Amino acid sequence: MIIDVVTLFPSMFSGVLGESILKRAQEHGQVKVNLLNLRDFSKDKHKKVDAAPYGGGPGMVIMAEPVFEAVEHLRKNGREESFLVLLTPGGVRYDQTLAQELSKQPGIILLCGHYEGFDERVSQGLSPLEVSIGDFVLTGGEVPAMVLLDSVVRLVPGVLGSQESLVEESFSSGALEYPQYTRPPEVRGMAVPEVLTSGDHGKVAEWREQKSQEKTRARRPDLSEKARRKKYRQI
Ligand code: ADE
Repeated sequence: MIIDVVTLFPSMFSGVLGESILKRAQEHGQVKVNLLNLRDFSKDKHKKVDAAPYGGGPGMVIMAEPVFEAVEHLRKNGREESFLVLLTPGGVRYDQTLAQELSKQPGIILLCGHYEGFDERVSQGLSPLEVSIGDFVLTGGEVPAMVLLDSVVRLVPGVLGSQESLVEESFSSGALEYPQYTRPPEVRGMAVPEVLTSGDHGKVAEWREQKSQEKTRARRPDLSEKARRKKYRQI
């Protein structure tokens, strides 16, 4: 999978891309991440990419033309089929289902806004999927793009080793994950639940399912209801 990121701040990505699973996935050739500086697509002699909003108001708006140029450059260079995403707090809410859908794409182009966002004609002309990572406003689309990158890359087949299995994690089943414990058996007076050291795999599975459900009901009743409806539909 090729992931192209169009941003005014490419260096923000080096930490996230240079460590852990994202680093390994690139080294193994499972994903290629290509950072493009939007300024390189400006036709202005000062490489300007933003301007004051028509109608007045605070801040600056990213001009449409450099974004069109960047996307056209990519389309002409093997990215005909890449799925176009624009990060904005006004987009559809990102979740694990969307991450799974994106992980099946041959490529993704991520457009990161900054300042007061993009000229609306970017959306009009390119019809990207507009995505928000949550109901809060960040300084730009870079951190959301990293969130999306991380969550998608780990779902690309072969990226996670068998030790990092996807099977039982939060959200994949529509519920939050059960609590985990490791050595030693007692920490500051707090013991590991006995069932986990009993060696009875059936009991362990039952306990985990129960804890997962309790946690989901308490913290995320919305997910609990969604999982219940999903189960009902399967019957
Ligand atoms: N840009 C600024 N805030 C954002 C958010 N919450 N999601 C996606 N892009 C953003």
